[in-house]
Amino acid sequence: MKPGRRKFMAGMLASVAGRNAAGALTRNHDTSEEVHALREIAFGKGIHVGAAVSSDQLRLDPSFRHEIVKECSLVVPEWQAKWTTLRPLPGQFDFSGFDALIKQSGALGLAVRGHPLVWHAAMPAWATNEILTGDARSLLEGHIATTTKRYRGKVIAWDVVNEAIRPEDGIAYGFRDTPWYRALGAGYVAAAFRHAAEIDPDARLVYNDYGVEYDDRRADGILDMVKRLRDDGVPIHAIGLQSHLWATRKQLHPRTVKRFCRAIKREGLDILITELDVRETDFLGDIESRDGIVSAVAEIYLDAILSECIPKEITFWGFSDKYSWLSKPMYNPENPAGHLNRGLPLDYSYSRKPLWHTVARKLREI
Ligand code: G3I
Repeated sequence: MKPGRRKFMAGMLASVAGRNAAGALTRNHDTSEEVHALREIAFGKGIHVGAAVSSDQLRLDPSFRHEIVKECSLVVPEWQAKWTTLRPLPGQFDFSGFDALIKQSGALGLAVRGHPLVWHAAMPAWATNEILTGDARSLLEGHIATTTKRYRGKVIAWDVVNEAIRPEDGIAYGFRDTPWYRALGAGYVAAAFRHAAEIDPDARLVYNDYGVEYDDRRADGILDMVKRLRDDGVPIHAIGLQSHLWATRKQLHPRTVKRFCRAIKREGLDILITELDVRETDFLGDIESRDGIVSAVAEIYLDAILSECIPKEITFWGFSDKYSWLSKPMYNPENPAGHLNRGLPLDYSYSRKPLWHTVARKLREI
């Protein structure tokens, strides 16, 4: 491990130990926290507490459904609003999954943010081929028109474009090298936002991306794009920080996060935390240490954001470790054996972990 990392890790573990000694991470938490759920603490502060879910999880797992209704005021489709699910074949839409989630959410009093309208991943092969060899513009606008019209008034927001910036691809303005970019150039982002605003003028339109907290070039690329969109009068309302954090493998850049949030606020946009979780399967420690470092990393990150703004959402990518994407080897090559990743507020059995208590404390401090 590089010397700087060793120092960072030592500091992190000392911080965890310190909290353990102070009892902040012990099992016998302040009982007042047990009374209030995160959504209650956030209520009145203009913050949605959310979770990425599927309709099957809510339908087939009543205990999980109970926790989501208790702790969250918003849900996001983890994969049921993506092209692979919505558009299995050319000319065909299958809205059944997302329709089910919308219906459940309405019955449970949960708001919904749609995710995503335009992304390079989770695309069926036919669509990628059409983008590169056919009429990409019509496909983009047709998808946005059909999907946002169907859910107008049923979702409060859309991730209109997801992950368009990747400076290491070496393209002008740091754009990611995707089929959408190759077919339509950088203008596909503005076109997507303009079209979504035309169809659903009441939805909060979000640009969503990851890595701001670890990669200054990524942060700057997103800021440059946002400034250009705003200068061109493009209807964009918020920036989604996915916030997929790492327990040890990467070192957080709190100063970059603060600078980024200040710049976004100057542009008049809101900040959303859209996919918060902590990847800790590369951290070999006992359960208490793992849970402690997850909580400590999240606290550093949340402190950086909350020192500059109040996010309109704190949404987790899942809510219980039982359903974390990070426990699936296909998404987490650091975890080839598929060990349970402990990066969410509730453990496998829906018990509150130190991360839950840290978020509760941060919400109370606002
Ligand atoms: O599609 C089947 C569905 O028919 C079936 O009912 C269900 C039963 O488990 O499985 C579905 O399979 C896969 C699904 O994950 C559930 O594991 C999908 O094929 C697969 O594409 C989907 O992967 C998702 C991935 O995005 C790609 O869409 C992950 O769950 C999801 O966590 C991940 O989320 C992304 C965000 O959208 C963007 N930010 C990064 C984040 C993590 O990669």
